[in-house]
Amino acid sequence: MKKTKKLIIGNWKMNPPSLEEAKKLARDIKKVMPKIKRTSVVLCPPYVYLHPLSSVPKGALYLGAQNANHEEKGSFTGEVSFTELPQFKVRFVIVGHSERRKMGEDSELINKKIRSIVSCGMTAVLCIGESVRDSGGDYYHFIKQQILEALYDIPKKLLGNIVIAYEPIWAIGGPKAMSPMDLHEISIFIKKVLRDSFGDFSSGISILYGGSVDTTNADLLVKEGNVAGLLIGRQSLVAKDFNEIIKMVDNI
Ligand code: PGA
Repeated sequence: MKKTKKLIIGNWKMNPPSLEEAKKLARDIKKVMPKIKRTSVVLCPPYVYLHPLSSVPKGALYLGAQNANHEEKGSFTGEVSFTELPQFKVRFVIVGHSERRKMGEDSELINKKIRSIVSCGMTAVLCIGESVRDSGGDYYHFIKQQILEALYDIPKKLLGNIVIAYEPIWAIGGPKAMSPMDLHEISIFIKKVLRDSFGDFSSGISILYGGSVDTTNADLLVKEGNVAGLLIGRQSLVAKDFNEIIKMVDNI
């Protein structure tokens, strides 16, 4: 059976504290790539490191941004436009991360950002996920709403430039990831929501998992969780562990 490509994204968040450390981390991760056959890897450093790291992307190793403003240009102090990113070899942009939603980003803004990102040829990594799991199953409704609002009116032919990262907020930055069995169930649900809304075009959207991924759980989460890859926070800052996860996933 032909194996399809997996995707592993490292979300460095506001780390590491110095450019030297960022360069070393990227260099150390790059070393694993010659051994990798079926997996694409995306490094998402803070904005200020994108330019110095723009020589890093090569083959299946890509550079991503953690955010972008949907406006093309203009008087938006402190913001960076999506149109400014591709010149630094940025091909992916994370959008809708729960940490940004907490800062006030709503679905309407996330939808605008996704449109901007895909319209200039980059891939939008749309993060979704509930904060709690109620016994009545309301979180299913919540997840469906998040997907439909974020992807509202996006041209179907651009859906292949979207990746969905399911990141239950209760599992992010915590001691424990969700179980592969629960992930399997929710990924089936997400695929159904996408199929009901976009028909055959939905098959272009890969689904990833994020939240407390580490070397002990990455393998089973991908293997039994029915996902195409992982979005990793803390463990993407430790080259040895991140590389081990990449190798494990590549061997699935
Ligand atoms: P974590 O973060 O892997 O440190 O839990 C994941 C994320 O926030 O994307």
